[in-house]
Amino acid sequence: MSYRVLTAAERESLADPREEFASEVLEGLSQTPKRLSSRWFYDDEGSRLFQRIMGLPEYYVTGCEHQVLSSHGAEILAATGGKPLALVDMGAGDGAKTMLLLDALEAQQRDVRYVPIDISEGALAGLSARLAGRGLRLEGVVSEYFSGLKWLGQQDRQAGTDEARLVLFLGSNIGNFDRPRARAFLLRLWSVLRHGDHVLIGFDLKKDIELLLAAYNDKQGVTAAFNLNLLHRINAELGGHFDVSRFRHFSTYNVFSGAMESYLVSQAEQDVHVDALHARFHFKAWEPIHTEYSYKYLPADIERLAEEAGFSIAGHFPDAKGYFVDSLWRVEKERSPA
Ligand SMILES: C[S@@+](CC[C@H](N)C(=O)[O-])C[C@H]1O[C@@H](n2cnc3c(N)ncnc32)[C@H](O)[C@@H]1O
Repeated sequence: MSYRVLTAAERESLADPREEFASEVLEGLSQTPKRLSSRWFYDDEGSRLFQRIMGLPEYYVTGCEHQVLSSHGAEILAATGGKPLALVDMGAGDGAKTMLLLDALEAQQRDVRYVPIDISEGALAGLSARLAGRGLRLEGVVSEYFSGLKWLGQQDRQAGTDEARLVLFLGSNIGNFDRPRARAFLLRLWSVLRHGDHVLIGFDLKKDIELLLAAYNDKQGVTAAFNLNLLHRINAELGGHFDVSRFRHFSTYNVFSGAMESYLVSQAEQDVHVDALHARFHFKAWEPIHTEYSYKYLPADIERLAEEAGFSIAGHFPDAKGYFVDSLWRVEKERSPA
């Protein structure tokens, strides 16, 4: 018997995002309780809806982080030293807040390579169109976070570059991970970075529950449309037969885990066939599909997470209301993660 190990390029060519979506939908809707990962929210329509969410009066996150980066952007960048900078933006979205940092870098005439990594091709296409004509070195990657990180590590090994690196994980993206997954993600990040590199992570802080509930249940129903769009996506990409009007968005705060949790709830008993999966899914009346976690943090949780993953804290930058904090961490390679 003989065997052969696929090369990295061969493995990459076999990784098909549509197949991954299909297998996750099959797995997630076959489970009890049913679940779908929030990473599938962002098809083109999902990315457009998320841009509208960021402009909603109830969705305080964007305004808070905008304020932090306009007031402290230059200070944050100064902490990374004066070398040419690779600015890596994980889950970059429309990059609107990152522009504040790019403007500050331009003002400092610092040499910069901007590397947005996002699973949504639509988001990256929009972002590169917006940045066209800025004379910026842009190397966007359409990929899931972990493959993007792997790509980054390989690239840097080949290039042997002397750039300082600042990895952005803005907008409370980290909140979609539960604590073990957040820790695993940060350890992975630590392992591809070099001693002295920095990461800037947005953490949504624990606060009055009414504010949280309002942010995920906005009056105009944009968050509901964003959540329900996942079913439209299954219909469009996998030949699903969801009657979307028979589901409703429901978002609540779990006081024990400290997370906002979002669901799509079937308002009647029904069967839904998904052609590409050759499968029919049964929903009991009022049965939920879990679609998102958004974990909220206390400052002490952030410090513990940094230490566990091998980073030291270079600074906390909260907004004026204390709703949100961008936390700047430095990679420490001399000591191992806790
Ligand atoms: C909540 S938005 C935040 C966008 C931006 N960072 C901001 O602060 O405005 C999340 C972004 O991360 C991307 N994303 C979500 N899950 C991802 C994953 N697992 N891998 C890569 N990108 C992901 C989405 O496509 C989306 O553009």
